Amino acid sequence: MKEDHNTDIFPKHFFWGASTAGHQVEGGNSNQWTVWEQHNAKDLAQTAHQRLGWLPNWQGVKQLAERKDNYISGAGVEHYQHYEADFDIVKKLNLNAFRFGIEWSRIEPREGEWDEAEVAHYRDYIAQLRKRGIEPFANIWHWTFPVWFAEMGGFAKQQNVKYFERFVQKLADDLVDDLGYIITLNEPNVYASFGYLSGEWVPNQKNPLTFLRVYRNLYLAHRRAYRILKRAKPSLQIGIVQQMGNIQAKRPHNVIDQTSTRWMRYFWNWWFGNRIRKQQDFVGINYYFTDYYTGFAKKVNPRVPVNDLGWYLQPEGLYPLLLSAWRRYKKPIFVTENGLADSKDEYRRWWLEETIVAMERALSEGVDLRGYLHWSLLDNFEWKYGWWPQFGLVHVDRKTMKRTIRPSAKWFATRIKDITQK
Ligand code: BGC
Repeated sequence: MKEDHNTDIFPKHFFWGASTAGHQVEGGNSNQWTVWEQHNAKDLAQTAHQRLGWLPNWQGVKQLAERKDNYISGAGVEHYQHYEADFDIVKKLNLNAFRFGIEWSRIEPREGEWDEAEVAHYRDYIAQLRKRGIEPFANIWHWTFPVWFAEMGGFAKQQNVKYFERFVQKLADDLVDDLGYIITLNEPNVYASFGYLSGEWVPNQKNPLTFLRVYRNLYLAHRRAYRILKRAKPSLQIGIVQQMGNIQAKRPHNVIDQTSTRWMRYFWNWWFGNRIRKQQDFVGINYYFTDYYTGFAKKVNPRVPVNDLGWYLQPEGLYPLLLSAWRRYKKPIFVTENGLADSKDEYRRWWLEETIVAMERALSEGVDLRGYLHWSLLDNFEWKYGWWPQFGLVHVDRKTMKRTIRPSAKWFATRIKDITQK
């Protein structure tokens, strides 16, 4: 009998990793988001208090949140230049997997024109991961695209899907041979909802019909991309990653709370995935929060613990999601994002500990969980919020671009070592 049999539960080839997205770290991008940033930074800075004043740590956040340059991705964290050094950090953290974005606007800056130097960049990027024994998880689309595609109407028009297909074909021809895993789309639910329902993101539309059209075009885009990529390399494991919330009824025995949360769960977590059942080799889950609802979708969470963005933290909420995703799809599962904005590194270690327990629990029930990729490796550009939310295992000082491994990440690295050496 081994003393600590808990840790045996992780499969031998489990992937322990971290995630990033091109636009959030690379720097020097030019896409529809950078255009949006230029147009909206001033307004976002001016309305920061009104939007964020309720945050428990508003005083700590205020200084950056009220500055215009907080809302500009700009030089990013210069990951585009420093990727090799960043991969050395990945290695140092005992991680064996890394998720990253391929920036469409770099590869096809003008419609139909390929920038081969950028293709070569990503080829080297992948090779540098391989060289360090780190499995690359490439993500084709993480919400950004070239300005010309946005000007054509982006994913709101079905006839535009062919441009995405052509881009995917380019990747299939020139980039996938060294890849084992590829993600076509990141969180179509978040993108479509924020861009076309609540209208708080580029392209700021509030139109339920357009929202549905975008949703549909995105699953068509995925299905076609799946076909193209499989044809190019049949062994490639292809999927999307979905934002999943652990949506719970505040009053579990109340009919209204129960019914409304069941619907919300269906629409948010499963609707998109159900449409691509046959075109996914794995299920990617991004988990950040548990939310309790009462009545007709009224959110009523406990007040603590919350992260710097005010999101209620319940790491073990990953467990029911893993279980449901497994029961529903019977496909290998990867946690492709999971983490918290925690600039003081107060909760991150606890979050990681509890998350590991949640995964052990799921594994012990037969869930085919194959990997965990923490969001994020580095502090990065957090979309509409800008630079103040810090999700990194590694802190980045944006003046010097110096990377500093956070104490929680050191703990995580040791924990992974313990688990993998058993
Ligand atoms: C997104 C990331 C983002 C993270 C934290 C996820 O929904 O994929 O781009 O940084 O959430 O908000």
